[in-house]
Amino acid sequence: MQVSGYLCALIACSGLTLSVSTGNQTGLESGNTAPPLLLVSFDGFRADYLNKYSFPNLEKFFSDGVLVRELTNVFTTKTFPNHYSLVTGLYAESHGILASVMYDPVSKKNFSIQNDSDPFWWNEATPIWVSVEESGYKAAAAMWPGTDVNIQNHTLKYKFEYNPKVTFQERLGNLTQWMTTDKSVKFAALYWEEPDRSGHMYGPENTTEMSRVLKEVDGHIGFLMEQLNKTGLWGKINVIITSDHGMAQCSQERLIKLDDCITPSSYRVVDLTPVAAIIPLEGSSTVYKNLSICHSNMKVYLKDDVPDRLHYKNNVRIQPILLVADEGWTIVKNGRLPRLGDHGYDSTFPSMHPFLAAHGPAFRKGYRMSSFNSVDLYPLMCHLVGVPPKPNNGSFAHVRCVLVNEQCGELALAVGLVIGVLIILTTFTCLFKLMKNRDPSSSRPFARLELEDDADDEPLLE
Ligand SMILES: *[C@@H]1O[C@H](CO)[C@@H](O)[C@H](O)[C@H]1NC(C)=O
Ligand SMILES: *[C@@H]1O[C@H](CO)[C@@H](O)[C@H](O)[C@H]1NC(C)=O
Ligand SMILES: *[C@@H]1O[C@H](CO)[C@@H](O)[C@H](O)[C@H]1NC(C)=O
Ligand SMILES: *[C@@H]1O[C@H](CO)[C@@H](O)[C@H](O)[C@H]1NC(C)=O
Ligand SMILES: *[C@@H]1O[C@H](CO)[C@@H](O)[C@H](O)[C@H]1NC(C)=O
Ligand SMILES: *[C@@H]1O[C@H](CO)[C@@H](O)[C@H](O)[C@H]1NC(C)=O
Ligand SMILES: *[C@@H]1O[C@H](CO)[C@@H](O)[C@H](O)[C@H]1NC(C)=O
Ligand SMILES: *[C@@H]1O[C@H](CO)[C@@H](O)[C@H](O)[C@H]1NC(C)=O
Ligand SMILES: *[C@@H]1O[C@H](CO)[C@@H](O)[C@H](O)[C@H]1NC(C)=O
Ligand SMILES: [Zn+2]
Repeated sequence: MQVSGYLCALIACSGLTLSVSTGNQTGLESGNTAPPLLLVSFDGFRADYLNKYSFPNLEKFFSDGVLVRELTNVFTTKTFPNHYSLVTGLYAESHGILASVMYDPVSKKNFSIQNDSDPFWWNEATPIWVSVEESGYKAAAAMWPGTDVNIQNHTLKYKFEYNPKVTFQERLGNLTQWMTTDKSVKFAALYWEEPDRSGHMYGPENTTEMSRVLKEVDGHIGFLMEQLNKTGLWGKINVIITSDHGMAQCSQERLIKLDDCITPSSYRVVDLTPVAAIIPLEGSSTVYKNLSICHSNMKVYLKDDVPDRLHYKNNVRIQPILLVADEGWTIVKNGRLPRLGDHGYDSTFPSMHPFLAAHGPAFRKGYRMSSFNSVDLYPLMCHLVGVPPKPNNGSFAHVRCVLVNEQCGELALAVGLVIGVLIILTTFTCLFKLMKNRDPSSSRPFARLELEDDADDEPLLE
């Protein structure tokens, strides 16, 4: 009796410990009752704008949800590579969208953000909206890069053709319309061009212009909350507001002029600044040598020597020579500064990092985190909408603490301690009772245990 009671208690305890420590990575109930997810990106929303400007609506949004002050994004810290990393969980070298301008030496094709609709460029990865549709649900999108492309033979029914003139209100209005009229929409993505556009034009240090545009962006977030409230979605769906990258101040005083170092006819430049992709056309060792001593504020790498931490090596679309300007520096062939603000620089610079905020039934309320990797968002979103994640470079373990159903931090520690103490107490109580009230006749099934116990004269507790 006592022995079986002890075993039961032990099994119960270990079962409890197990379920607390592992959780359930997919968390799918059969039938997938997970609420829809709306993912919103405000392009070029640098993380520290949050400290320098005021955002009454955004603060309202995350005061009742989650704020992650900084996301470590992927290199190159450009719009397309990072938007694709957010929805695939892959570094640029693994998803194939490596820059705003690309050249593929095998197919000899060119890519630019104005000519991005050939699926060839996107098919190295599977964005979450394709997985959602493969799981039998629908996805909707407003201008999110890649959502108007036929990726992996999927064309979204609920989508916009890219047109920067379509207002925020129309983008969001149509998304909420689709989400409310078609209950099988599980995932929606919304893209907005600001504050990136103003950041490029005026530079992030122009506080007059930046406070104007950030006030406008905060207004859009206010409109978003109102619109969700009006359509009955607020508090029912999960909403993530984030961005692709930050913005650095550039200057006419910080120019790197390639024509000062190298004969223009000796190379082809695929992409120019702040990360230049160079194909030598003649005397490639001279091209490399001339570039490598060109300017002290520009790092020059042969493709194989790109630092591992940038995850920017293993793809044919990366050109033989890579030039990386220091923060705030601009590479030009000759001539003047093209724009006052830019991004694309090394992903370790805080100025390149965006932020993330989240609200909805899945998220903790009033939870703060200092940072995580932008590739970690993908496994989190797969968990939220209940689709199996494809192989990726993110980690659900890094981000699960933003979820209300995950035991985390102090709470997990407290639960662990209580369970530990319970196990020890139960063990000792059971053993103690076992020895005090030993009654061989009542525990026949455990005769072998009893026998082994009997072999030692003064067992266990001494
Ligand atoms: C997680 O949930 C799914 C769906 O309910 C279930 O099939 C799976 O066995 C669970 N996994 C674990 C480790 O509990
Ligand atoms: C790609 O761009 C290069 C340089 O602008 C050009 O020479 C080449 O013809 C283009 N290739 C195609 C297939 O358009
Ligand atoms: C766009 O790219 C495709 C290949 O990816 C190419 O065939 C086409 O000529 C390009 N169009 C323009 C206008 O450059
Ligand atoms: C692509 O999708 C269409 C319709 O959804 C289907 O008829 C066609 O067979 C698919 N092609 C491939 C290569 O999977
Ligand atoms: C948004 O929806 C309205 C009303 O259905 C429609 O007229 C409009 O064309 C849609 N906008 C876009 C860009 O699809
Ligand atoms: C900010 O930009 C505006 C518009 O271009 C300009 O008039 C103003 O001088 C700039 N301010 C600073 C501090 O650069
Ligand atoms: C939603 O609407 C209700 C009723 O108009 C209002 O009381 C509430 O504050 C709104 N919530 C948000 C988050 O806007
Ligand atoms: C490399 O630099 C040297 C010295 O400035 C110059 O004479 C030579 O033309 C350059 N070579 C190329 C390929 O640009
Ligand atoms: C990223 O994930 C892809 C897909 O699983 C994998 O092929 C690649 O090696 C990973 N990269 C790193 C740096 O782990
Ligand atoms: Zn961007």
